[in-house]
Amino acid sequence: MSGSLVLAVESSCDETGVALVADGRRILASVVASQVALHAPTGGIVPEVAARAHLRWIVPTLAEAWSDAGVSWSDVDAVAVTSGPGLAGSLLVGINFAKALAYVHELPLVGVNHLEGHLYAAWLEDATDPAREEPELPALALIVSGGHTFLSVTRRGLRHEHLGGTVDDAAGEAFDKVGRLLGLPYPGGPAIARAAESAVRHEVRFPRAWLPGTDDFSFSGLKTAALRVVAEARTVAGIDLADRETPLPGPVVAELAWGFQDAVVDVLATKTIRAAERVGAATIVLGGGVAANTALRARLAGEAEALGIPFVVPAPDLCTDNGAMIGAAGARRFTAGERAGLDLDARPTWPLGAP
Ligand code: KG4
Ligand code: ZN
Repeated sequence: MSGSLVLAVESSCDETGVALVADGRRILASVVASQVALHAPTGGIVPEVAARAHLRWIVPTLAEAWSDAGVSWSDVDAVAVTSGPGLAGSLLVGINFAKALAYVHELPLVGVNHLEGHLYAAWLEDATDPAREEPELPALALIVSGGHTFLSVTRRGLRHEHLGGTVDDAAGEAFDKVGRLLGLPYPGGPAIARAAESAVRHEVRFPRAWLPGTDDFSFSGLKTAALRVVAEARTVAGIDLADRETPLPGPVVAELAWGFQDAVVDVLATKTIRAAERVGAATIVLGGGVAANTALRARLAGEAEALGIPFVVPAPDLCTDNGAMIGAAGARRFTAGERAGLDLDARPTWPLGAP
């Protein structure tokens, strides 16, 4: 893995990321232009708006990465870019940008699976914990993002076996939808986490879908339960059914946010630990935007420690979408000899592990 410097581009969803990563591990620069403020008024991502924003911000993002990195084009060995899964229009901006860079600078181009990026983010150096070792294989991974939720096991480098995943909504999607139900700002994940932390009462209990005997998840029932619980809470608070403007009292929102988060974290952590024991994992890895959640991180860290299995989760800003994780996966694909042509196309649906 040594001796590679990869320039990586990520634009699959609503963050424009450019990074320079050495040896698939050391981050020389990682710049993310976030579209959160842009999508807040609509309470969700409008694909066309996202694609235009990538176009607007990708060049300034690259410029800032160069000024942070202290290296030049002659040092770069390859250009890596997310080619899927994600929003087609958003992906195409990054892909065409990366193709142009690779062509002009006569560099190899590597197409990267976004989910493999989330996975290999755990192999990046941690500035807050420089002594942390690379995760040992076999690694059991829980990847939880806005679009995906699954468990996989990596027994050899770049070989990932899918164990199970959500049969309906992704965990992040559930956070976002329930956040909106509770009248919290977009995106719902961090807003629910903040509200949950301020909860004083911890009585409410949301249902858990265990789907026994599988490594699958289901979050749609939880969303339906949230709809019902929020309606009940509004009635109890004396808010008229027709009144959609008056918000629930803050302490009620906090308790419901806590109850929802507790149910999601309980299911994710319990099933991850079970799978890790079953496959004889040497490491448990957590990745994807929802991995930024403090309660989930703490719960998995505690349970993994009790079992004596090392647990690795990237810093929160490397869990949400960024270019560095694409550099981590891209460097491994590059070192393994993978090359994409200038006909590289967007793959909006591309499961981890599929060729
Ligand atoms: O990986 P990501 O940045 O984009 C996708 O690939 O989807 O994940 C975004 C998701 C959103 O649903 C967001 O609400 C969620 O991650 N998220 C969180 C937190 N931070 C981001 N969910 C729970 N707690 C958080 N602290
Ligand atoms: Zn992502």
